[in-house]
Amino acid sequence: MKETNLLSCNESDLETAAMLLKKGEVVALPTETVYGLAADALNSEAVAEIFNAKGRPADNPLIIHISDLEMMKRYTEDIPNAAYRLAEKFWPGPLTMVLPKRSIVPDIVTGGLDTVGVRMPENEIMRKVISMVGRPLAAPSANRSGSPSPTTAAHVADDMNGRVSAIVDGGECSVGVESTVISFEGYDTIRILRPGLITAEQLRKVVDEVIIDSNILSDTVPEVKEVRSPGMKYKHYSPEAHVVLVRENLSDFIRYVSAQPEENLCCLIFDQDAENFPFEYMTYGATPEEQARQIFSKLREADKRGIKNLYVRAPRKEGVGLAVYNRLIRAAGYEVVES
Ligand code: TXA
Ligand code: MG
Repeated sequence: MKETNLLSCNESDLETAAMLLKKGEVVALPTETVYGLAADALNSEAVAEIFNAKGRPADNPLIIHISDLEMMKRYTEDIPNAAYRLAEKFWPGPLTMVLPKRSIVPDIVTGGLDTVGVRMPENEIMRKVISMVGRPLAAPSANRSGSPSPTTAAHVADDMNGRVSAIVDGGECSVGVESTVISFEGYDTIRILRPGLITAEQLRKVVDEVIIDSNILSDTVPEVKEVRSPGMKYKHYSPEAHVVLVRENLSDFIRYVSAQPEENLCCLIFDQDAENFPFEYMTYGATPEEQARQIFSKLREADKRGIKNLYVRAPRKEGVGLAVYNRLIRAAGYEVVES
């Protein structure tokens, strides 16, 4: 067990965080998407500590976080023109671009791949700490592998107390789901490997063609041989509760849940469903953006309340709803019913 320092985001605490990172320690930091478990991306031993603290499989690559475009050029090569246009439009922000890595980026960061995911986060605390360290920070989401991603410092502490050197409290994350991850195919074509707040429609305004990877749209467990992003093959975001995702309209949802065993049952529904709702429930917002912000904390709350069976109203698989759906279907272990 380590002693985990709880830090605020004042100047001197951020200096402490930067000093720990320079020494090769692991520090949890806020980003606009979810909290990240950060270490100096150029220090293999420090990065190994991230995998340890998370219990993460070694073949699941990490994203490096940068504070300016010069860093992208220093750590990646053969950068397509489209990457610059996307950076101009969406950085700093929740977009990760997979690019050919330079050899200075250690293999442990990328799980042996010759590409690396790069992101310039919008969160100013995170960008400030990166500049203070002067190096890119490798950072996966700061949850134990398999549990829901953390969107508050308290979530991080629940998973990481005693496992990391410090946690910087930057309040609640504004986006709530992880970044959109894309790779490049050909001259002006990109592929979405993980959906996020930045949608296919938005990306299509900047590049010619946007392919949504078939694993994202499918409702079945991805075939390992078809997985282009190693993270997609692992079970994810799973609370202790048995989660079932129920598609379609409210009256069919209610009819479906009525036929289920009642023990420790709870529903996760939209705000607008709550009036006269006949079962125990939690709400997770009225719009896909609000649902993105709240989804992970509601999954954690379900466990805190000891719920055994959680039936979730599914958002539509479009726009930001696609990102929420993608996290939920993994939380549900691909148990989806069309009511
Ligand atoms: O919003 C985010 O992206 C958060 C915050 C902390 O920045 N980070 C995050 O990291 O979600 P992580 O490690 O939990 O997810 C990274 C995802 C994984 O699914 C991984 O497989 C994929 O990105 N990925 C990373 N590098 C890749 C590469 N070179 N090729 C393909 N997929 C890659
Ligand atoms: Mg993660």
